[in-house]
Amino acid sequence: MLQGKKIVLGVSGSIAAYKAVFLLRLLTKAGAEVKVIMTPSAKDFVAPLTFSALSNNPVLIDFSTPDGSWNNHVEFANWADLIILAPASANSIGKLALGLCDNLLLATLFSASCPIYIAPAMDREMYSSESIKKNIALLTKQNRFIIPSEEGELASGLHGEGRMAEPENIIRFLNETIAKGLPLYGKKALVTAGPTYEAIDPVRFIGNHSSGKMGFAIAEELAKQGASVTLVHGPVKISTANTSIKTIAVTSAREMYDASVTAFNGSDITVMSAAVADYKPATTAKEKIKKSGDSIQLELVQNPDIIAELGKKKKANQLLIGFALETNDEVKNASVKLKKKNLDAIILNSMRTKGAGPGGDTNKITIIDKRNKTTNFELKPKIEVAADIVTYIIACLKK
Ligand code: CTP
Repeated sequence: MLQGKKIVLGVSGSIAAYKAVFLLRLLTKAGAEVKVIMTPSAKDFVAPLTFSALSNNPVLIDFSTPDGSWNNHVEFANWADLIILAPASANSIGKLALGLCDNLLLATLFSASCPIYIAPAMDREMYSSESIKKNIALLTKQNRFIIPSEEGELASGLHGEGRMAEPENIIRFLNETIAKGLPLYGKKALVTAGPTYEAIDPVRFIGNHSSGKMGFAIAEELAKQGASVTLVHGPVKISTANTSIKTIAVTSAREMYDASVTAFNGSDITVMSAAVADYKPATTAKEKIKKSGDSIQLELVQNPDIIAELGKKKKANQLLIGFALETNDEVKNASVKLKKKNLDAIILNSMRTKGAGPGGDTNKITIIDKRNKTTNFELKPKIEVAADIVTYIIACLKK
């Protein structure tokens, strides 16, 4: 969830500032770009240099800079996808709740329209005081996300509630909150990708040129939009970047069939982009077939049509989308497949379009729906094509 996110980490004056160092490490490890803004009193607890070295960005504290220019709080606020105030001292919480703005960090917070997360950090009596409770309630009312403080030993030596949430828990809170706001949160998706290999003997097979790139890009985009994704793929040379995607590697169409039928149960969205071999050898030789004579005969038998089988099992609330790679009469052939296999939509790509189809990094698609409505897209990188497909899916689910 935090991959590629631009984050302002606001550090205010509290002994828990040392934990913000670990939080910064976790944020950058998760792929976020972080800029740190400290309140003047925060630098009594941790040196700005520590944050600067770990974030790879200058740390900002004051409105004015030594060269006479100024740190533009509006610019930082607009740059950020989200802001985390951790630790949030009683003083900063109070000022933020009441609209007081006497430092760069507060000015940035007040200038922001992105989500703001607040991790309070203070001693037991302070945390349980009526004023702090009131201020935290005010911030909640202002749609700020409060990351609950934790119970344990406090810097004062007391034991109780008030210490800042552990950095790992802050990351968990961020991931969960961001996921809940995504359009496909709570949805399960199944994607098939890549070719299947049908064994002739222990060393030879029937296969095709599918790289799996289109299906993998769709799986990544579905996960990015909050779906919990299962990706069933044939032999490919690529891997997923998003670790939340459950991958099931298979070789043959039969194996892909078994894995897909199991995962289809409970799947809200299914996109079958795999280039499944329609036929397989009637028998697989146990030993390597030896060269003999000028020609040999290979008998092929039909593989199960996986998507057609899912089309039969499909319930009203399940969205089933197929692919069609055609060389001629493209729209007509794809529409026939859509009906025959009981799909909700089919994504057509034509081998006649330069830059489209298997293997490459680009594709040009046409989406055809059940009512024969066709939507044409430009030739673009497969990652962008995947985004178009997922936008289409989100729109379908809203209908
Ligand atoms: N498909 C499948 N199982 C198969 C064959 C195809 O699930 N045994 C799926 C593909 O993943 C794709 C759709 O069916 O989503 C259409 O695949 P395609 O190969 O274009 O269609 P076929 O029905 O195999 O027709 P043909 O090869 O004759 O064009």
